[in-house]
Amino acid sequence: MRIQKIMVVGSGQMGSGIVQVLAQSGFQVVMNDMKEEFVQRGLAKITKQLNREVEKGRRTKEEVTALLSRIQPSTILEDGKDAQLVIEAATENKKVKHEIFKRLDEILPAEAILATNTSSLPITEIAAVTSRPEKVIGMHFFNPVPVMKLIEVIRGLATSEDTFTSVMELAKEIGKVPVEVKDFPGFAANRVLVTMINEAIYTVYEGISTPEGVDSVMKLGANHPMGPIELADYVGLDVCLAVMEVLYEGYGDPKYRPCPLLRKYVNAGWLGVKTGRGFYKYN
Ligand code: 3HC
Repeated sequence: MRIQKIMVVGSGQMGSGIVQVLAQSGFQVVMNDMKEEFVQRGLAKITKQLNREVEKGRRTKEEVTALLSRIQPSTILEDGKDAQLVIEAATENKKVKHEIFKRLDEILPAEAILATNTSSLPITEIAAVTSRPEKVIGMHFFNPVPVMKLIEVIRGLATSEDTFTSVMELAKEIGKVPVEVKDFPGFAANRVLVTMINEAIYTVYEGISTPEGVDSVMKLGANHPMGPIELADYVGLDVCLAVMEVLYEGYGDPKYRPCPLLRKYVNAGWLGVKTGRGFYKYN
């Protein structure tokens, strides 16, 4: 099946990045979210990013205009009814995602592939709420999507070879490097990365170092581009907590216990860059 039109559900940090990368590669993209203001916010983010590239001389204004014209703003899932692929990048909540997949299954043609950008929820369970589990797959992008090369590709128990091959090919077509990983909690990247972030927060919680100290240690001693605490703020503390909860519940192993300090910050609404405050303060 030739993929030409793709719907992205969710226009937040990940969703808007995915839309940008797809439109950059020439695809027609439906950018969907629940409210017009969310879609407009996502579009503004993409426009700002592309204008910066014009300023740097990497793109012409005409290219940017053409690219943006390939993005169709949408607030109803029915706008994707003639898409060959949906990539869902909504809130990291099982109930929300299951609801979306039920609806997509009703609306999209039987041959359409339904992919999820979940950072940790089981693909097999998401697939099971649809009548086409062979067409459901995980496509896990990384933030910032236009920059990070990786896509973890995760098959559910019933995902067909055809679906898998189409998604691997698409990932390469949009300039990414797909890596297949098994359908286990946190997959591979977040099991390692977010557990490290959680441990870094424990290091602060236990008074061993400050956020600045832990970040310096990892940047200068392990060559990380961002320290783990800074990265936690960037990814979103709510997202980090959600991943840890899935790991803790999924493996039943106390080594994945979310740090109480992480939970406290999330309960306070200090979610990181997106709310202006996390472990650091932002303008
Ligand atoms: N969109 C598009 N491009 C962006 C961008 C964005 N949001 N943010 C940065 N860039 C581009 C810049 O334009 C710049 O491009 P250029 O060098 O070609 O001009 C390049 O990235 C470098 O940016 P900066 O010079 O501003 O800053 P840095 O060199 O510090 O890089 C970074 C920024 C790429 C974010 C780097 O700090 C980094 O790699 N950090 C780690 C990111 C990471 O670990 N991501 C994974 C998070 S986990 C995840 O997403 C999974 C989820 O499920 C939780």
